Amino acid sequence: LKTGVFQILVSDAMSKEGLQPLLESDLVTCVQQNVNDVEDLSVFDALLIRSATTVTDELLSKMPNLKIVARAGVGVDNVDLDAATKHGVVVVNAPDGNTISTAEHTFAMMSSLLRNIPQANASIKAGQWNRSKYQGSELRLKTLGIIGFGRIGSQIAQRAKAFEMKLIVFDPFLTKDRAEKLGVELGSVDEVLAAADIITVHTPLTKETKGLLGMKNIAKTKPGVFLINCARGGIIDEQALKHYLANGHVAGAALDVFVEEPATDRDLLDFDNVIATPHIAASTKEAQLNVASQVSEEVLHFLQGSPATNS
Ligand code: MLT
Repeated sequence: LKTGVFQILVSDAMSKEGLQPLLESDLVTCVQQNVNDVEDLSVFDALLIRSATTVTDELLSKMPNLKIVARAGVGVDNVDLDAATKHGVVVVNAPDGNTISTAEHTFAMMSSLLRNIPQANASIKAGQWNRSKYQGSELRLKTLGIIGFGRIGSQIAQRAKAFEMKLIVFDPFLTKDRAEKLGVELGSVDEVLAAADIITVHTPLTKETKGLLGMKNIAKTKPGVFLINCARGGIIDEQALKHYLANGHVAGAALDVFVEEPATDRDLLDFDNVIATPHIAASTKEAQLNVASQVSEEVLHFLQGSPATNS
């Protein structure tokens, strides 16, 4: 192991190729081990994480030398940002490295949901040949509601247009002018809820977005609506979702993220019309290489005195 000036702990699994800037730098000693398995955390200057490591006040107290937490991904909801500020630790992310992968996964989930592909696949593998049971619906001319129109939301819109879908989007930061330029209709949350045949959420998880699709708002959607969450568990309230799946108001849901991960809610997962993946929207070779190299470069520059760009 080479000994560098800076000690870096990589706590979650990350692309080796993406970590090359750190692994090759003479300035750095890079330890790849889960925080919980490291005896002396006090030596580290930087901590690299994905979503499996939760950065709490308590953890930060054990890392007095820490200067930067870098999240190889977008969401920083697994980092206590107030505690980081208190400890004088900068938090950065990789805001655009997994945009395309997440948009593509969302699109795959939407097609799968409307054509019952996971269910039909399970059925044929179980030796059945049931064609009528798996009749689906076309995406063409369906109205797709996108809540949260940042990088991922707008990539989904581009793809939806190629499928001749209609689009209505909500984003508090999107102006009418910009929406027009992007060729999408801008609406309020209520307008999106009322108009959409399929709703996909692409916001961060915040106080404002937690339970955004809950008892009240799902009631405002069209009967037979399809809901998709490839953003963060909890934006769609899982209890409310179960209620509207059980009474048939929601025709189906595609979920990549859950309030608790690993997902344990059998009642939710056991609905025939719920399809699910284990938080893999950003799990592609390309995205993982992108996010790991983005945060590696960022950490290396930051430790050498440059200001953080994605804090
Ligand atoms: C993200 O926030 O970037 C994604 O959820 C992917 C991940 O958790 O690594």
